[in-house]
Amino acid sequence: MTAVSVSSPANIALIKYWGAVDLERALPLNPSISMTLRECRTVCTADRIEGSEDIIQVAAPDGSLRDAPDRFARAVGAHLDRLRSRAGHRGALRIATRNTFPTAVGLASSAAGFSALTVAVTRLLGIHADRGELAELARASGSGSAARSVAGGYVEWGMAEGGEATELRILGDAGHWDLRNVIALVDERPKDVASREGHRRAPGSPHYAARTAELPRRLDAVRAAIANRDLAAMGEVVEEEAIELHLIAMSSRPPIFYWEPGTLAVLARVRSLRSEGIAAFSTMDAGANVHVLCEPADEPAVAAALENLAEVGRVIRDGVGTGPADAEPLF
Ligand code: DP6
Repeated sequence: MTAVSVSSPANIALIKYWGAVDLERALPLNPSISMTLRECRTVCTADRIEGSEDIIQVAAPDGSLRDAPDRFARAVGAHLDRLRSRAGHRGALRIATRNTFPTAVGLASSAAGFSALTVAVTRLLGIHADRGELAELARASGSGSAARSVAGGYVEWGMAEGGEATELRILGDAGHWDLRNVIALVDERPKDVASREGHRRAPGSPHYAARTAELPRRLDAVRAAIANRDLAAMGEVVEEEAIELHLIAMSSRPPIFYWEPGTLAVLARVRSLRSEGIAAFSTMDAGANVHVLCEPADEPAVAAALENLAEVGRVIRDGVGTGPADAEPLF
C-alpha cells in the first residue's frame, strides 16, 4: 500500500486576495494575510494506479466515494499533470477527497482542497518541496488562496518584488495567538459566481483603485496587530477590508452580489455585540456566510448570539490551526 493521506485546513483571509495579474496561474495583484483554520478541512488520499486514466473521486455525505463532478475533476487532473511533470512521473493516480464542511459557499473549500491535494501528491511522488515550494505548487492550481493553507497560524502570501515567485511569510504560528472564528452559515447553496470571475472583474470597479491605495496601511496594521495580539486593532481593519471586497464585487461590471439578507443580519448582530462589550469582528470571503473573529473567552457568547438569529442555519466553531497533517485514508 503506497497511498498517502493528508488533511489540510481552509483559511480565512484577513487581507483578501482579490484581483490577479494572471488568473490562470493565480498571480495576485496584492499580498494577502490569512488565519489558517483548524476544523474546516479537506482530507485527500492519493495513490498510484495501473492503467492510463486517473480516477478522481469525492466523498458523498455518507462517506461513499463517487466520481468527482466534471469541472472539479478537470481542475484536479490539470493540477496532477503539473505535479507529475515536476516529479518526472508519468503514471496514473487515484485521488479521493472529503470535506468536513460545506463546499463553494465562501468557506475556502478550494483552498483546503488544493492544499491537501498538493501536499498529498508531492509526498506520494517523492517531490522534496519545502514550505515555500509547496505554496508555489498549491498556487499554481489556480486557487491562489491554497498557497496560504500549506502552513499553520497567521500567513502572508505575496509575490517576490518584480518577480513571479511565491513568498510565504509566517507572521505567527498557531500557538502565538489563540483566536477563534465562529462561522455563521446563512446560505449553504453553492455560490453563483466563482472567485476566479470575481478576480477578473475586480479591476473594473471604480472602487478598486481606492482599495489598492489603502492596502499598504491595512497590511501593516494587520501585521502589527498579529505581532501584538491586538484584536481590537485587527478587527477594525479586517471588517473594513471585507466590506470593501464586497463593495468592489457589487460595483464590478457586471456586478456580483454574494450577500444575502442573513449576511446583513449577522453583520448587525456583531456590531451590537461590540456595543454590549464583546470584542467580535466580521469578515466574509466570496460568499454570503460570515466569519466572526473573537477571543476564546467570548466564543460561547458569540456562538450563542449568532445561533439565536433566525437567519442563521447553524454555526461552525473554528479557530486558528497548525496546518496540514496526516489523515486516515479514504480508500
Ligand atoms: C475572496 O482564487 O483562491 O476568498 O479558488 O475559490 O479558493 P478559490 O478562490 P481564490 O480566491 C480567494 C478569494 C477570497 C479572498 C482570499 O481568500 O484571499
